[in-house]
Amino acid sequence: MRAAWQRKGGLSSPPGTDWPDQSSPGQGRPDQTRSDQIGAGQAGPEQRRGRMQQATLNNGQTMPMLGLGTYTLSGSSGVDVMLDALELGYRLLDTAKMYGNEHEVGQAVLESGLARREIFITSKLNRPCASYQKARQGIATSLEALQTDYIDLMLVHEPYEAWEEMYQALEDAVAEGTVRSIGISSFGLERCKRLYAQCRITPALNQLENHIYFQQDSLVGWLKEQGTCVQAWSPFGEGRAGICSHPVLTATGRKYGKTAAQVALRFLVQRGIAVVPKSSHRQRLAENMAIFDFQLTEEDMQVLQDMDTGKSLFSWSWI
Ligand SMILES: NC(=O)c1ccc[n+]([C@@H]2O[C@H](COP(=O)([O-])OP(=O)(O)OC[C@H]3O[C@@H](n4cnc5c(N)ncnc54)[C@H](OP(=O)(O)O)[C@@H]3O)[C@@H](O)[C@H]2O)c1
Repeated sequence: MRAAWQRKGGLSSPPGTDWPDQSSPGQGRPDQTRSDQIGAGQAGPEQRRGRMQQATLNNGQTMPMLGLGTYTLSGSSGVDVMLDALELGYRLLDTAKMYGNEHEVGQAVLESGLARREIFITSKLNRPCASYQKARQGIATSLEALQTDYIDLMLVHEPYEAWEEMYQALEDAVAEGTVRSIGISSFGLERCKRLYAQCRITPALNQLENHIYFQQDSLVGWLKEQGTCVQAWSPFGEGRAGICSHPVLTATGRKYGKTAAQVALRFLVQRGIAVVPKSSHRQRLAENMAIFDFQLTEEDMQVLQDMDTGKSLFSWSWI
């Protein structure tokens, strides 16, 4: 089953795509999304319109501050969720070779009827790509699976032993035009310092575990000083620690007419951290993107900052 606007006969652009796309910053239909129904809190005029914020990467490329995490979204039901997200206005899909769903992401992009340039695709090289040649091959197979001739952002998924060679393969892909921006994921400070001392292209982005319980302030601060964008993976802790029903976040959200999930995401975005939450439910997809029309006060930000435990929720974490 496809998203409603698809089933109705394939509009060239889905209804409700209120957010400006990368090719035409500042453009966009007047917003009629759920974000307007939920209440504007203390938003300024720009935020009241619920406009998707864009990050500018260190090479000038723009990237939506919020995208869809696609881990576990696969098969035709996965494509349906991605189509729902694109219909609602998501313009970033975060995939990885490890997720085994690059083909589904490519399929959703094609079926959406949106121009390829309107959608920001992130993918990641996994352990089987852990050498220069294997990484080169991995980039080629990702392009094929995604059914595209370029990937917006490609990351070394984790600091595997051959990460230096993998990163060099990404640098060469940028020169060849098959990858626009490159970066890393789950690289801690020491590995970052080694990489930054030797790389030809400074990483545009480091995708890190980041949520109210694990805020990684010093690493985030260092990356920002280098001009590297930070993007939070598992901004809800993969649903493990009750973030979306936490009483403090729920009470905070009530003041703004928002949910705990929205507060959790807004907290990150307000710290300048991009987010890729995953949901397989349309209503939650809409809820999760309705975070650009309110602003948490400094006092509320401080309360949330104090919830940091300094500990990862994931035993396999590299950091
Ligand atoms: N680079 C890396 O190493 C790495 C590691 C992990 C993840 N990631 C990326 O980050 C993305 C997000 O992380 P994640 O998928 O692990 O988990 P997440 O986004 O932190 O949390 C997803 C969980 O939260 C639930 N949820 C979503 N929206 C909700 C809402 N509004 N209210 C209540 N519950 C809600 C989802 O349930 P439903 O689906 O049932 O709504 C799901 O159980 C991944 O999909 C992937 O793209 C990257």
